[in-house]
Amino acid sequence: MMSIVVFVMGSAVALAGWRGRTLATANMEVAIKNKADHRKIAPLMYVFLVSGYTGGVLSLVMQGQPILESPHFLTGTVVISLLTINAVLAATGFIGNKASARTIHAYVGSTALVILVAHAVLGLKLGLSI
Ligand code: HEM
Ligand code: HEM
Repeated sequence: MMSIVVFVMGSAVALAGWRGRTLATANMEVAIKNKADHRKIAPLMYVFLVSGYTGGVLSLVMQGQPILESPHFLTGTVVISLLTINAVLAATGFIGNKASARTIHAYVGSTALVILVAHAVLGLKLGLSI
């Protein structure tokens, strides 16, 4: 389930965000459509990831396993922190529509998605070790 959130929703969110950003000069209509899609999917993906984070910890608690110390926990915490920065930037209207805030949002989000690939591998490893 989390792989679907990460890979299907994640690539859709990133693609729509970057299309909205890069096509703004070439084709305004397509850019606006992509930004609207991004605004819809990104918050939903964020909610799913935060739920997955909580669910992951709870699952280990219920199985009597050690919590908050796996490499998967570390990458998960980094990703949630980065995406929280992104959500706050978006919620504040990019701090009064600052171009630099939009650029930071674009690169912080993309970095989070790259880390999520390693995070998925570490999740599989954690699962196989239990
Ligand atoms: C997967 C990580 C993410 C990536 C790669 C990403 C990427 C982008 C990009 C490239 C833009 C266009 C910036 C510009 O106009 O120059 C953008 C805009 C935006 N993003 Fe994200 N983003 C991510 C996560 C999020 C999250 C978690 C939220 C909210 C919870 C969010 C909300 C928004 C909003 C509201 C906009 C403005 C759209 C508009 O101008 O109409 N993004 N994002
Ligand atoms: C992408 C594929 C993913 C896989 C295969 C995966 C797999 C796992 C597994 C097997 C566990 C141990 C719990 C159990 O055995 O029931 C776990 C725990 C956990 N997962 Fe994931 N997960 C994935 C994505 C995510 C995502 C996207 C997040 C949130 C960012 C997340 C956050 C956590 C956390 C915080 C724990 C508890 C770790 C600890 O306390 O040491 N996982 N995950």
